[in-house]
Amino acid sequence: MFLALKLFCVVATAFTTASASNILNVKPFRIDLESEIPRLKSLIKNTRLPAKDLYPAAGLDKGLPLDSLRQLQTDWLENFDWGTQQAALNEFSHYTVVIEGQTVHFVHEKSKDPGAIPVILLHGWPGSFHEFSPIIKPLTESWTSNAGKNVSYNVVVPSLPGFVFSSPPPANWTMDDTARIFNTLMTDVLGYSTYAIHGTDWGSVPAYTLYSSFNLTVRAAQLVFIPFLAPSPEEIAANNITLSDIQKVAEQRSIDWGTTDQGYFTEQTTKPNDIGLALYDNPVGQLAWIAGLMKRASDPRAGTPPSVLDNTAILTSVSLYYLTDSFPILYAPLLFSQYEYNPAFWPEEYIAKIGNLVSYKVHDFGGHFAGLDNPPALIEDIREMGLYFKA
Ligand SMILES: *[C@@H]1O[C@H](CO)[C@@H](O)[C@H](O)[C@H]1NC(C)=O
Ligand SMILES: *[C@@H]1O[C@H](CO)[C@@H](O)[C@H](O)[C@H]1NC(C)=O
Ligand SMILES: *[C@@H]1O[C@H](CO)[C@@H](O)[C@H](O)[C@H]1NC(C)=O
Ligand SMILES: *[C@@H]1O[C@H](CO)[C@@H](O)[C@H](O)[C@H]1NC(C)=O
Repeated sequence: MFLALKLFCVVATAFTTASASNILNVKPFRIDLESEIPRLKSLIKNTRLPAKDLYPAAGLDKGLPLDSLRQLQTDWLENFDWGTQQAALNEFSHYTVVIEGQTVHFVHEKSKDPGAIPVILLHGWPGSFHEFSPIIKPLTESWTSNAGKNVSYNVVVPSLPGFVFSSPPPANWTMDDTARIFNTLMTDVLGYSTYAIHGTDWGSVPAYTLYSSFNLTVRAAQLVFIPFLAPSPEEIAANNITLSDIQKVAEQRSIDWGTTDQGYFTEQTTKPNDIGLALYDNPVGQLAWIAGLMKRASDPRAGTPPSVLDNTAILTSVSLYYLTDSFPILYAPLLFSQYEYNPAFWPEEYIAKIGNLVSYKVHDFGGHFAGLDNPPALIEDIREMGLYFKA
């Protein structure tokens, strides 16, 4: 499981405490970080990298290889244009609202279809609303299933508290608090009495809380990650569950991740100040910390179609982080998709125990960042949820 690195956050701002309604000031928002770029570029340019890789033959096993970092550093300086990325992100309608004292940033893209289903998409770490860029507009468009049902969405993508343009929460904040304010966002702020949900990585924590505890308003869920420990191979075998070849790849990824890729997690969970302060004003350092992880957790074919997870996508993610300082009985249908290279694996039999599972799919392309790793498949997954949605 990935974890929020809280220190990559904006400096806390004092907000007036909530009004009677607890919701203040829905405001249109535009991203405007251009003035920060000259300083960012000079920091990138003046960062000296070692001459020699200590583990030249290790691939990604020892972390991001020096050559990859050098290439990304060069791309960031010479080929990456923040203005272009910012303009693309600003094509979405952004807003901020203050709920229970927290500033919540969100994208809200409405469908032209009056029957569109409201859906909230919850991102993880290291990610942001940007993870969903390739799928937001397609989901607003009408799609017709083989049986002739039309599905389209009014898409809401909030930034989790502490991420990019959402304010950092107080130290006692929990994911239940996040779930509650996101339910307020969908219902009281945006006026949707019922809605559907998609969640990945860290965002699957509030997504599952919303699914399990707010079932009067959350009427369908589609997840690609769940906030429960992945079962061990021994446990899967003991339960006589047989796996397809793609599921075996995913199971092996899950085992490998659990044994050799928990370093960042332990560090961020136990000593966030050490890594947070070390990397705070060090963009190339943030790049090294995040890019290796993005490469390891995504499909090895990243950057080739249908994946759009190339160096530009990595640099946009890292730029956003740097520049913004930043088992009850359930009735709503649950859909789950296992992407082959997602480094956490749950067989259908496990997902079926945590909700009203109506669809379990295995995709033979894609990793941890489904919105970037395989956008067409995630669009298909989320559209399929629309077939089960009952307001
Ligand atoms: C679906 O949309 C198409 C095109 O807009 C329309 O012709 C059709 O009647 C719709 N079907 C249903 C079941 O609403
Ligand atoms: C959490 O901390 C905030 C201030 O940092 C405080 O106002 C609030 O009462 C605390 N909440 C709980 C449940 O302790
Ligand atoms: C698995 O299969 C074995 C052999 O058929 C059987 O003895 C065992 O009870 C099964 N375990 C479960 C959990 O169904
Ligand atoms: C919500 O879940 C509870 C059990 O946790 C169930 O009794 C209730 O019927 C569910 N509501 C809906 C609308 O599905």
